Amino acid sequence: MDPDQNKRLAAEAALSYLPEQGVVGLGTGSTVHHFIVGVAALVRQGRQYVGVATSEQSRALATSLGVPMLDDAGPWDVLLCVDGADEVSEELDLIKGGGGAHTREKIVNFAARKNVIVVDERKLSKRLGERWAVPVEVLPFAHRETARLLAAHGTPTLRSRAGAPFRTDSGNYVYDLATGPIEKPRELDIHLKTTPGVVETGLFCGRADVVLVARGSHVETRTARDFGERLS
Ligand code: 5RP
Repeated sequence: MDPDQNKRLAAEAALSYLPEQGVVGLGTGSTVHHFIVGVAALVRQGRQYVGVATSEQSRALATSLGVPMLDDAGPWDVLLCVDGADEVSEELDLIKGGGGAHTREKIVNFAARKNVIVVDERKLSKRLGERWAVPVEVLPFAHRETARLLAAHGTPTLRSRAGAPFRTDSGNYVYDLATGPIEKPRELDIHLKTTPGVVETGLFCGRADVVLVARGSHVETRTARDFGERLS
């Protein structure tokens, strides 16, 4: 099955987690794209969903398809957030930020009562960092100084687009920090977050309630061990 079909399969499976109505967090990326299209189809059928966007890209897509959207200020009562990921470990920890949207994605993830992650099997690894670098959003001010400190944890590369530094929706830069397999992702996240100049990291530890993995023509459901605890 081609990769986009696989992504569609996982994203469409996430539609079954939607509540009857209410506020839904809309992640970012090519997998979640299919979920947003599905939500829009339900809205057209009369279901009363309102979206919270994790990026300007997702806001534009949802709005163009007729999904009513809340503004960015919050607070929002997000019943469900569906998002993609770049890497998923055996513990269901995540690396996100391939699209540079991880700061907003993390804010909406923390606001949501339930987080469903949609991926295809190419995103799975034993330990985070095996396949993907950790995206770190930093302030442009003194970013090379921030990068010097990040280098204590790996090799930072300034993300660029068309020959210029890539800018997030908030106008910041992103360093992709190649770490190799990460033994203690929560600890690394704390170290990175306490580095001056760092806005947010793409490490999402313990933030996935359910991971839907498209494998060939079927979708596998992985559930966090503490699912019940965190929802109660
Ligand atoms: C954007 C993200 C995306 O969710 C992640 O990059 C996965 O994207 P895709 O579904 O296109 O592979 O974190 O910041």
